[in-house]
Amino acid sequence: MNKEILSDSYSVFFKKNGFDNLSNHLRNKNYSKIFIHVDNNTKQYCLDLFLKKIHISNYDLIESCDGEENKNIESCLKLWQTISDKGGDRNSLIINLGGGVVSDMGGFIASTYKRGINYINVPTTLLSMVDASVGGKTGIDFGTLKNQIGTFYDPKMVVIDPEFLNTLEKNEISSGYAEIFKHSLIYDSTAYNKLINNDKPLYNLKTIYSSILTKNKIVLIDKKERKERKSLNYGHTLGHAIESYFLNSDNKLLHGEAVSIGIVLASFLSNKLFNFSIEHVNSIKNHINYVYKKIEINDDQINSIIDLLIHDKKNSHGKINFILLKDIAKPVYDVQVKTEFIKESFKYYLS
Ligand code: GLY
Repeated sequence: MNKEILSDSYSVFFKKNGFDNLSNHLRNKNYSKIFIHVDNNTKQYCLDLFLKKIHISNYDLIESCDGEENKNIESCLKLWQTISDKGGDRNSLIINLGGGVVSDMGGFIASTYKRGINYINVPTTLLSMVDASVGGKTGIDFGTLKNQIGTFYDPKMVVIDPEFLNTLEKNEISSGYAEIFKHSLIYDSTAYNKLINNDKPLYNLKTIYSSILTKNKIVLIDKKERKERKSLNYGHTLGHAIESYFLNSDNKLLHGEAVSIGIVLASFLSNKLFNFSIEHVNSIKNHINYVYKKIEINDDQINSIIDLLIHDKKNSHGKINFILLKDIAKPVYDVQVKTEFIKESFKYYLS
């Protein structure tokens, strides 16, 4: 269970084995410069722990500010500038120590600096362990649109250590759990049966391992998201719109909190359009309501969220494409849904 997971050009390693492999990699590669990319949180709570676990004699710190609102080109400009000022060259390495913003943005600056330098992800949040750090998607937001600018560019390795999760608030854990739950829904009915009857997030090493394994299997089938990888967007079409809508309100939601609502809505729509069992839909809603606090959304807000959908990156030819389910682990791709059904799905979530 602690064994490495092989992707096409890199491995995901766990705990001590991961740090040993990372230390060996640094020794063997003889990088000209090593940049450790942190944000204000991981600098304070994770950096010392990380440095105790690896053998590294010389490094430079590069820093970004935490939060989705900082995953933008301005932050990249500062990072590129610092790397350049400190003499970064084609033989430099970036180690991303942080959550999804750090790994997405750090991967992006690595993929573009000098036409591409090596990077390694050491995720410190549950969300980045099971999702963002694996699969080679890098990127930044563009205006209000998430992940509009980016590349497919694999890390040299990923090192997972759940000890970093001890530094997180409870809501950060629940946020990451939405992706674990999603992976079970789209691919793994055994995992789904294990998760669905719990009233709190299950995120032990075994669960994290099997969730990464699932994501990796899907990415290996369809790296560039032509078909199967789209299933990883289950719950995200409406989830992103909900997240964007609440971003500038007092009721800002974490990514996974918004996605958890999106999962309930997509499950309702799956029943409506593909006869996905209503027992499953009700169990999914109950599970989500145990794990996350219920969000009140009024009719005006629902209309605004639906308006935001047209900006979703998964739109093609002006259509909103949903990933839905025929059954657990049986996704259906590129489904167009009438607005009245979307409104009904919100009513179901709120009921
Ligand atoms: N987070 C979705 C993906 O990696 O495709």
